[in-house]
Amino acid sequence: MTPLPRVVHAETLDGLAEQDPRAMRSRRDLRRVHRIMGTCSILSRNLRAWSLPGAGPQPLRVLELGAGDGSLMLRLARVLAARWPRVELGLLDRQALVGPDTLRQYARLGWTATPLRMDVLDWVAAAPAAAQGGDSTRRWDLIVANLFLHHFQGRQLGELMRAAAERCDHFLACEPRRSRFALAASHLIGVLGANAVTREDAVLSVHAGFRDRELGALWPAGEGGWATREGPAGAFSHCFSAARTGAA
Ligand SMILES: C[S@@+](CC[C@H](N)C(=O)[O-])C[C@H]1O[C@@H](n2cnc3c(N)ncnc32)[C@H](O)[C@@H]1O
Repeated sequence: MTPLPRVVHAETLDGLAEQDPRAMRSRRDLRRVHRIMGTCSILSRNLRAWSLPGAGPQPLRVLELGAGDGSLMLRLARVLAARWPRVELGLLDRQALVGPDTLRQYARLGWTATPLRMDVLDWVAAAPAAAQGGDSTRRWDLIVANLFLHHFQGRQLGELMRAAAERCDHFLACEPRRSRFALAASHLIGVLGANAVTREDAVLSVHAGFRDRELGALWPAGEGGWATREGPAGAFSHCFSAARTGAA
């Protein structure tokens, strides 16, 4: 069977205001979708495979790109807090979606979470260590992207991957898998009670998703050394991970 071609279209949720009731409902749907996709387990399994210095004297510096309301990372934080008791967490998104209650819940775990409201393309364009966006371009121990990279293609996606490689020691992306099975499942998401925005975006996300070594092909291999892994994860996801093995 011929593989699905990669097609990227703007998603409906991205065109809605933060407080639009359809957007708020769709973000709630997304939390349920994550449970079905097993996203939190996929991410924690991948992260546990690395020996990140989580209990060292310095807090671990973690950045999530396209963090949304921060609720997925909060679930992950609850799983990882025993191993990583002190984390400086940046939650980058172009919308201001992280509420004070979410920040308090991070604080209870010992994690200092800071929402960074900016377009990721401005983060890419910012000179490393520039003041723009606080210290978001400083070196991170870990950068995570979940259901985010599939919004981009071509030169923008390549530059995003290059900026991430320059600014972190570990990178983990978990994206929609572009497969016929995932596409069929995305058409059935209405049975979960998902609204029209979520139903439409689920299908668009699979068409814009990844397969094979599509993300690894964009990771800059020549600078420093990197151990990379890429492939299917769970029933519907596609993961790419990279860990620095040499000096930057
Ligand atoms: C599908 S949501 C994923 C949210 C979260 N990572 C999760 O998995 O629950 C994608 C997020 O990316 C954000 N986003 C899309 N394009 C962006 C851009 N150019 N810069 C920063 N954030 C962006 C959206 O605002 C949205 O919150």
